[in-house]
Amino acid sequence: MARLVFNKRSVEVKDGEPMKEYARELGVAFGCEHGVCGTCQIDIVSGAENLNAINEAEEDMGRDRKHRLACQCTILHGNVEIRY
Ligand code: FES
Repeated sequence: MARLVFNKRSVEVKDGEPMKEYARELGVAFGCEHGVCGTCQIDIVSGAENLNAINEAEEDMGRDRKHRLACQCTILHGNVEIRY
């Protein structure tokens, strides 16, 4: 089991699951959900190594390993703390 932490709250995440629904549950807002609008920009406080590799949509938005798009992230395992 992985864990997503945001704003002093956390939820358990199945290893290998997309972050989107869990982040939404914790209060992150989404728009397009396809890596285009930038609404879901998050900072990775810790656990960046526990996420999938950054993809082309994120690179096109100027994101990097510690600044991601929540709609494009998958939590592979372990704890990930985000700031929004
Ligand atoms: S919701 Fe639009 S980029 Fe993630």
